[in-house]
Amino acid sequence: MRAALLEQVGRPLEVVADVEVAPLRPGQVRVRVAHCGLCHSDLTIMGAGGLLPVVLGHEAAGVVEEVGVGVTTLAPGDAVLLAPLAPCGRCYWCVRGEESICESAMVALAGVFPDGTTPLSRDGAPVYRGLGVGGFGQHVVTTEAGAVRIGSEVPLDVAAVVGCAVQTGVGAVLNTAKVEEGATVLVMGLGGVGVSVVQGARLAGASRIIVSDPVAERRHAAGRFGATDAVDPSDVDVVEACQQLTGGVGVDYAFDAAGSPALLGAGLAATRRGGTTVGVGVGAGAGELTISAAGHVMGEKKLLGCVFGSANPHREVPRLLSLWASGRLDLEGMISSRRPLDEINEGFDDMRAGRGIRTVVTL
Ligand SMILES: NC(=O)c1ccc[n+]([C@@H]2O[C@H](COP(=O)([O-])OP(=O)(O)OC[C@H]3O[C@@H](n4cnc5c(N)ncnc54)[C@H](O)[C@@H]3O)[C@@H](O)[C@H]2O)c1
Ligand SMILES: [Zn+2]
Ligand SMILES: [Zn+2]
Repeated sequence: MRAALLEQVGRPLEVVADVEVAPLRPGQVRVRVAHCGLCHSDLTIMGAGGLLPVVLGHEAAGVVEEVGVGVTTLAPGDAVLLAPLAPCGRCYWCVRGEESICESAMVALAGVFPDGTTPLSRDGAPVYRGLGVGGFGQHVVTTEAGAVRIGSEVPLDVAAVVGCAVQTGVGAVLNTAKVEEGATVLVMGLGGVGVSVVQGARLAGASRIIVSDPVAERRHAAGRFGATDAVDPSDVDVVEACQQLTGGVGVDYAFDAAGSPALLGAGLAATRRGGTTVGVGVGAGAGELTISAAGHVMGEKKLLGCVFGSANPHREVPRLLSLWASGRLDLEGMISSRRPLDEINEGFDDMRAGRGIRTVVTL
């Protein structure tokens, strides 16, 4: 198949035409990918590495082509969203209802199935499936739990952005933080993930949604998704701005949707006593954050992590698509550019420059 391959850290992706896809094993399905969104996590891996060579891309939708022995809930022709986290349903975390941190799913994020195999190869050598999907290729092999059936009325490019950005950002608000009506919220970073946090805060009924991003175009765009106030962090102190906008109290919730320890620290400082900071962005390498223990304890501050919106995709994807169908979640407006696979590196150039919000490539 054709696929965009990362062969070496720091190199652009190379579109090749000779990636082999192995026959299905029991319990697996093969999906013909229609569209795949570009996420900053792909860009991070392009700079930091992992199992190589790899077909990245984890925000994809397509149509089931073939199902393996024992697959009962999917059939050829089904439109599906590919889930980066395919919950096993049986591990310690899954049975607690914490499917986003499922043991097998965590292994799959690194590029192989939980049994250590990869369905992809090239010239007889293994090729890995990036972040549990491998959506920058024409075909994806996943487990039955890794594909969520969606209605045939949902355009597949619109569905694709739910796979990572929307599921993560909206879920960070509704599932991880559980923001309540009337709350005040700060969102730092306004790419696909941050804009989805803004939409989640709007859905939750937040009274004030303060956004921060050095890119003016993105601050302006955030207003369309529900932001009430915008600050330029290269010009204004975000913590002070939050204090002013909340009458000296501080915000109830802060979200880091850019990915740096400094922003987690800013979130802790910008939230009120008892407030909650959620880390959604993930930077490369081992960034560290120093917290004043006494201040944290006596302030009853909360600091939470969030993986793909703390959700089970089999519950979350239908819920998000219903919100879209009823006009309460804007998915079309998040897709600022559609490109053929051959232009994938230009799409990542746009991401580096903060142009648009989300690029979707067509396979
Ligand atoms: N936790 C998860 O499950 C999960 C899922 C998807 C993505 N992510 C991570 O979320 C982050 C965002 O992803 P994306 O695809 O939206 O990225 P993106 O590159 O499209 O957007 C990031 C935005 O952050 C802004 N930014 C940079 N520094 C900032 C600062 N100091 N203050 C405010 N804004 C700042 C950038 O200008 C940019 O607009 C990435 O770190 C990505 O790896 C995490
Ligand atoms: Zn992602
Ligand atoms: Zn599990």
